[in-house]
Amino acid sequence: MDSESTSGRNGTAKAKADQGGASRRSFLKSTLALGGAGLAGTAGIRAAQAAGDPLITEIQDWNRYLGVGVDAAPYGMPSEFEKDVVRRSVPWLTADATSSVNFTPLHALDGIITPNGLCFERHHGGVAVIPPQDHRLMIHGLVDKPLVFTMEDLQRFPRENRVYFLECAANSGMEWRGAQLNGCQYTHGMVHCVMYTGTPLKHLLNEAGVKTAGKWLLAEGADASTMTRSIPMEKALEDCMVVWKMNGEALRPEQGYPVRLVVPGWEGNMWVKWLRRLEVGDAPWEQREETSKYTDLLADGKARKFTWAMEVKSVITNPSPQAPITHGRGRTVITGLAWSGNGTIKRVDVSIDGGRNWQTARLDGPSLPKAVHRFYYDFDWDGSELYLQSRAMDEQGFVQPTKNELRAARGTNSIYHNNGIQTWYLKADGALENVEVS
Ligand code: MTE
Ligand code: CO
Repeated sequence: MDSESTSGRNGTAKAKADQGGASRRSFLKSTLALGGAGLAGTAGIRAAQAAGDPLITEIQDWNRYLGVGVDAAPYGMPSEFEKDVVRRSVPWLTADATSSVNFTPLHALDGIITPNGLCFERHHGGVAVIPPQDHRLMIHGLVDKPLVFTMEDLQRFPRENRVYFLECAANSGMEWRGAQLNGCQYTHGMVHCVMYTGTPLKHLLNEAGVKTAGKWLLAEGADASTMTRSIPMEKALEDCMVVWKMNGEALRPEQGYPVRLVVPGWEGNMWVKWLRRLEVGDAPWEQREETSKYTDLLADGKARKFTWAMEVKSVITNPSPQAPITHGRGRTVITGLAWSGNGTIKRVDVSIDGGRNWQTARLDGPSLPKAVHRFYYDFDWDGSELYLQSRAMDEQGFVQPTKNELRAARGTNSIYHNNGIQTWYLKADGALENVEVS
């Protein structure tokens, strides 16, 4: 409810209610003029009904007493009423928390930036705790001058700021054979999107001088898993970054403090955290993370390796199983995220009938290459059961496939790289469930 309809300062409650009606009518007119679905539902309590509401007529404690002063929290935390907005894990998914994953609460977020404390974590050997003054990054192999950088050295190279999504190749992996986990936090929460500050990797490579035969790069982490991945030199020189800040502050320990590699648009596993070594070579190294893991087992039993770019994908984040509709029928906002490792998102369509009919959603907020995009679909829910889906298209013309299209191409043995269309079944009481529509 807006303040206009509650304050009686400049007129009677009736006059205010009439004004509300007029503005609602003009709102309806403008949505219809835009070719929208027309929002006939109610949103907001009418002033007449609200007249006896003690939250309006009585002075509340937060108004009666002084609050805590400055410095109560030298590092600010979210409101106590947001305590459920947290990363969550699935206990049966992994045997041990040090080689495990938790998930971003996508259903509770909006916009395109993931708050630092809510970025999902994926570690293979727990979180390394490295004093920044003790960290070293080595570049060696097929280079003219092998070099070792301190954190201070790195910060003397030209800096850039870029917003990128990071998606684990295993995101939605449990959903290959059918609907399984009940909530977009679990089905799609291995993605985050932040603004990174760091230096383009090409500056460091140029400093060392890559020899002509140097066509590949091995990136290695300093954590207990010593994670290693081969990266083609072309990509390393194109847009990879060595970063030390996320959303303006130091990387969180979970995200690789003091320094990590950013490999825009490509699978999260390549974004080596706690980056300590870059070796230039003439061929890929065929490490564990690019052979037995993060490869796609096809229907004929052959494994496809080096699926680097994360393909176009989207999901409705709200409403969703963890975020049911509680307001009943009427004006309803559907929102979600879309992203593509190929660049920007050109269009997102939403279906409320399981993919029979599609409406174009409204993209809002910055449209940045290899970053998540926010979409909205405003509609008038009549209270009937619906099958909600979203389908994204990227700037290269790739369209997000249905899960059946994906299985026709790749079989059912896969775990990684599932970008299939997600369906939420909306029930009459506003609850939602993860289902599959074939
Ligand atoms: N780097 C190191 N050194 N150790 C790791 O375990 N996990 C990788 C990658 N980089 C990992 C790593 C995987 S599989 C993913 S999906 C991303 O980091 C996760 O990054 P995040 O924890 O910031 O979400
Ligand atoms: Co991963």
